[in-house]
Amino acid sequence: MKVTVVGAGAVGASCAEYIAIKDFASEVVLLDIKEGYAEGKAMDLMQTASLNGFDTKLTGVTNDYTKTANSDICVITSGIPRKPGMTREELIGINAGIVKSVSSSLIEHSPNTIIIVVSNPMDTMTYLVHKTTNLPKNRIIGMGGALDSARFKYRLAEALGAPISDVDGMVIGGHSDKGMVPLTAHATRNSIKVSEFLSDDRLNQVKEDTKVGGATLTKLLGTSAWYAPGAAVSGLVQAIACDQKKMFPCSTLLEGEYGLNDLCIGVPVILGRNGIEEIVKIDLSDAEEAHLKESAAGVQKTNGLLEL
Ligand code: 2OP
Repeated sequence: MKVTVVGAGAVGASCAEYIAIKDFASEVVLLDIKEGYAEGKAMDLMQTASLNGFDTKLTGVTNDYTKTANSDICVITSGIPRKPGMTREELIGINAGIVKSVSSSLIEHSPNTIIIVVSNPMDTMTYLVHKTTNLPKNRIIGMGGALDSARFKYRLAEALGAPISDVDGMVIGGHSDKGMVPLTAHATRNSIKVSEFLSDDRLNQVKEDTKVGGATLTKLLGTSAWYAPGAAVSGLVQAIACDQKKMFPCSTLLEGEYGLNDLCIGVPVILGRNGIEEIVKIDLSDAEEAHLKESAAGVQKTNGLLEL
């Protein structure tokens, strides 16, 4: 199993590290355009192999896509991250050109690969990869919901005073401060609905804190987060690599599902060796349905800024 991670910045390097530590891939190629940067990060990570007990082989390359050839899975993290006060959508001007070029280079050397998009604005970048590569829709996946759901669970556990392992929840919709749809009605504490433990007001606070989870960290860190984004995307890579048939909220091209067409947005999917193996239809409340449609309108508006 060969995985390429494009972008050796904080998110890409964290993703590569988590993949290595989970030890399900034989090889991870870390690629960056900055001379020596990916080589240095890969070497530093390889020097943790005896300490963290993995055999995965990490190599770094500077902008040489021949070294990514025949990758089973490619993760695109390249592009600029947010600064405090910025929205993800404001990154489109720079990141669209980068993602277009990177995705073309990747499929030139790995025509059968599965691409996972992390770069922001992620839903629009995922749509751009479809338009650029024309890969089958099951082989293009946007990572946002897995991260947002992890933040949702963090906030639920905080509100409940419960261990994270007791909490489950999912966020669908666009990966944007206003577009996320935390499914509070479906969230559980050890199979019991969280609404049995939390007031509507407290649940609404959990929803709002979840939606600005990225912006909260960007304000604290001065740049976008990287540990949770890296961990979230490594989980998608593992589900595909190990054919786990796990369900995640992922940004995927919708063609009528959830009443939405011609956009990529976060909905529950089953991930396995073929990438997105099924789009799962779940019952949404009228309010959740309306929020998802509103979120889709926001994603479509950002898509409209693309020069396709
Ligand atoms: C985040 O929410 C980088 O979009 C990513 O942290």
